[in-house]
Amino acid sequence: MTIQEHVYNVVKIFTDGHFSLKERLSKLIDYISGQFSIKRCSLMLIDSNGINIEVAASTNPNIIGIMRRTSDVCISTIALVEKKPLWIDKEARTFFRTLDKSKYESTSSLTIPLMFEEKRIGVINLTDFGDIEGFLKNHMVIIEEISPIVAAFIHSYSAIVSCQELKEKLDNKEGQLLEIDKLKTDLINFIVHDLKTPISVIIANLDMLNYENLTDSQSELVNLCIDEAENLKRMVLNILDIQKLEEARISILREEVDIFELLKNQIRSLGGLLKRRRITVELNGEPTTCYIDENLIGRTITNILINAIEHSPEDSRIKVTLQHNKYENSIVLKFEDEGGGIKEDMLDKIFDKYSQVLDDVKTYIKTSTGLGLTFCRLVVEAHGGRIWAENTNKGALFTVVLPQDFKKIIPDLG
Ligand SMILES: Nc1ncnc2c1ncn2[C@@H]1O[C@H](COP(=O)(O)OP(=O)(O)OP(=O)(O)O)[C@@H](O)[C@H]1O
Ligand SMILES: [Mg+2]
Repeated sequence: MTIQEHVYNVVKIFTDGHFSLKERLSKLIDYISGQFSIKRCSLMLIDSNGINIEVAASTNPNIIGIMRRTSDVCISTIALVEKKPLWIDKEARTFFRTLDKSKYESTSSLTIPLMFEEKRIGVINLTDFGDIEGFLKNHMVIIEEISPIVAAFIHSYSAIVSCQELKEKLDNKEGQLLEIDKLKTDLINFIVHDLKTPISVIIANLDMLNYENLTDSQSELVNLCIDEAENLKRMVLNILDIQKLEEARISILREEVDIFELLKNQIRSLGGLLKRRRITVELNGEPTTCYIDENLIGRTITNILINAIEHSPEDSRIKVTLQHNKYENSIVLKFEDEGGGIKEDMLDKIFDKYSQVLDDVKTYIKTSTGLGLTFCRLVVEAHGGRIWAENTNKGALFTVVLPQDFKKIIPDLG
């Protein structure tokens, strides 16, 4: 057989079928002993820490699992240190036998180191040759030719096994983290859900107070409390609905809505806040009908407006425009403020969960969650629309595009 044929056969041993490394090594040992008429043949592998070298396959099953320390002086370790085949004749063998007291009772041996680049992988031990002269002349070259291939296969196999083990560990960790994350989300949702009712009660009672004979400063205080409680309610509802929207557990209740009227109402509901901050809202547009979930789009408008108010300086103006894009048959809402805008690299990121611009200086301090725009994007996208932010020369501009005729987009509504 030619060297190429031997190489081909060895490659086949390592690539054919679905076998473990041990099974493949055992096939290799059988192949070598059969092809080269060697009675005893074994393959030893160094462990991943480089501390021990162990018999992984052998013509003698009794010695599989026998281990040596790589720091010991024995035939295998000498061949590895020398990085070349080690031929031991009968006399030298006697010396090693007394030294290592191993179970070998052979006359002579040949040990071939398995190296992958500079990495020590193990050794192939050949003992008890039929005809040593003939072996050295005919087969030495072949064994030397196939040993780097064997080393490379063992090395890549170990690398694959480590990757698989690592992947399994990571998969387990990921599963645990997902479970913990779900528990945390569930817990937050329980707490947040329970906050809804008391906040509504607070708002209702504060509203009633307004009907009493209050002085101007008392009424101002009550209105401030109402606005803060409304803001808390907005955040609580955002947290609850974001999860539902992400899991598509929320139904979009589309109804015929005049979106111009909706804009007017949402701006009106922020009247107290606008007055306190001396900010005016300019609304441009005309009555326009579309099919939307009034509650969700109403809260989207409020989230965008509150952001604009928070970032606007006092005595400034927020421009809200409603347009109809007849080519796309869509409604376009634009919210433009004079608050200095958003860093260019954050224009997309602000729609991500909990994303807030780090060095963002709001014109007044307020509690926030960084979820407002996430809620807006989920609502707009659930309506088949788009939302994005850009900068003008004065401040930020938020655009919301909503398809006007939902009946055409979602046939089951028709
Ligand atoms: N009009 C705006 N001008 C400047 N920056 C803005 C504007 N609107 C939003 N941002 C930036 O985008 C970030 C995210 O906004 P988002 O509404 O999601 O969260 P938030 O306002 O911080 O908190 P929340 O709305 O949950 O109370 C804000 O923290 C702010 O940095
Ligand atoms: Mg916000």
